[in-house]
Amino acid sequence: MSNRPIGIFDSGVGGLTVVKSLLERLPGESFVYYGDTAHVPYGSKSREELFQYAHDIIAFLLHQQVKTIVVACGTHSSVTLPELEKSCPVPILGVVKPGARAAVSATRCGKVGVIATQATVNSGSYTKNIKDIDPSLDVYSAACARFVPLIEAGILSGPETEQAIEEYVGPLLSQGIDTLVLGCTHYPFLAPLISRCAGQGLTLVDPACETVEELSEILRKGDLLNDRPDRNQREFYVSGNDESFYIVGRMLLGDVIRKVHRVDLY
Ligand code: DGL
Repeated sequence: MSNRPIGIFDSGVGGLTVVKSLLERLPGESFVYYGDTAHVPYGSKSREELFQYAHDIIAFLLHQQVKTIVVACGTHSSVTLPELEKSCPVPILGVVKPGARAAVSATRCGKVGVIATQATVNSGSYTKNIKDIDPSLDVYSAACARFVPLIEAGILSGPETEQAIEEYVGPLLSQGIDTLVLGCTHYPFLAPLISRCAGQGLTLVDPACETVEELSEILRKGDLLNDRPDRNQREFYVSGNDESFYIVGRMLLGDVIRKVHRVDLY
């Protein structure tokens, strides 16, 4: 048993979709969340930049004595995690493998769409992980550069967001997909609008649910579940604007966010 926190990170509010699942599935756990808002969006950053950010954030989280790390970011799960997991001193997991598993279970017609950041799409991570499980599936991907700035600004509805959804998701629907992976952790906040725009018959996959299932298994097997759930801590740190994270974060997650600390790691 361990009452140490779980470390969770993303470029901004996207990883709160993982926090949301964590609060539902493992409400007694403590966590430290880091939103790298000084560098959002991650989707357009180079490999070198992403490695630099990941090293600094992981060092910060380890300093907070975390017992495990959740890379609550599709971009880092695709680009840096395969390298970082070789040397991380605590268990570390990302969202891509769980998301791929969930998509394979969900599809009936064998055609899966993936929407994600440019860096994630370029990495081919979702296609590879889905095809590793079932090579017969067809995977169609689209990079959605406009989504993250809209979500970081709390704009989850309205003509601008609807137009972006039609532009990105429309061509995937034309391919005949029945399952759409929300392959950037920001995107599940758009799920209600995507469902409305896409119509019935499209299953949306939020990788956060399966990621938290995997986390729960890791904690259980490692005897790391929190033995003092009554004394859990929930801390939020950002590298950039703490005020906008506080406002948009509370809009998305509610009053679990009590205070946001600004800490500059660079
Ligand atoms: N939410 C992250 C992801 O899943 C980062 C998005 C971004 O900052 O571009 O990819």
